[in-house]
Amino acid sequence: MIIALTGTPGTGKTTVCEVIKEHSQYKKQYGIIDVNKIVLSEKLYTGKDEARDTYEADMDKLKERIELEIRKVPHGMDIIMEGHLSHMLPVDAIIVLRAHPVALRKRLGKRKNYSFEKVRENANAEALDVILVESVELNKNVFEINTTDKNLFSVVKSVISIIEGIKQGKVPEEFLPGKINWIEMVEMD
Ligand SMILES: Nc1ncnc2c1ncn2[C@@H]1O[C@H](COP(=O)(O)OP(=O)(O)OP(=O)(O)O)[C@@H](O)[C@H]1O
Ligand SMILES: [Mg+2]
Repeated sequence: MIIALTGTPGTGKTTVCEVIKEHSQYKKQYGIIDVNKIVLSEKLYTGKDEARDTYEADMDKLKERIELEIRKVPHGMDIIMEGHLSHMLPVDAIIVLRAHPVALRKRLGKRKNYSFEKVRENANAEALDVILVESVELNKNVFEINTTDKNLFSVVKSVISIIEGIKQGKVPEEFLPGKINWIEMVEMD
C-alpha cells in the first residue's frame, strides 16, 4: 500500500518519518520516500516564486520519478511518501498532519530560513484547511491527525494505526476528516 503523509510545513511529517526509519520493527515494514528531497535535489520544478520563497514543482516529472523510487522499495513493504506535495501523487490513502495555527507559528518561527511572511502564510493555510481540502478532493481515503500538544511517539502510533487499520479493511473512525476546526478554536480564545 502507498500512503501519502502530507500537511502544512511544520506539522511534523519529517520528524515522524525519522522515528519510523530508526524504529527496529517499523523500518522493516515501511519504506519512506522523501518527496521534497527528490524535487529539490533533482530540480524537478518549473520555477521559483521569489516573493513567496517557494518552488513550483513539475508534477508530471515528479510522478515519473516517484514511480522509479517506488520500484526500489522491497516487495512486501508499505510505502510512505512524505512531503506537502505527496497527496497530489497517486496513492491509496492520505494522512494529513494538522497543528493549531498558533503552535505552527511557534514551530516555523524557529526556522532561520523562514521569513515572518512565510510563517504567516503557512499558519493561514493551516487555519483554512488548505491541504485537507485538496486531499479530500483527490482521494476517498483521507485521515487527519491533530499533532498539537501530542508527543511525537503518540503521533507515530496514530500514523501506524491508521495504516494497519486500512490494511485490515477497517475505517479508522477516530481520524476521519472534519473533527478538527481551527477557526472555531481561534474564535473561542
Ligand atoms: N508533535 C509535535 N509536537 C511539537 N513539535 C513538533 C511535533 N512534531 C514535530 N515538531 C517540531 O516541529 C518542527 C517541524 O517539524 P518537521 O520538520 O518534521 O515538519 P515537516 O512537516 O516535515 O515540515 P516541511 O513540510 O517544511 O518539511 C520541528 O522543529 C519539530 O521538532
Ligand atoms: Mg519535512
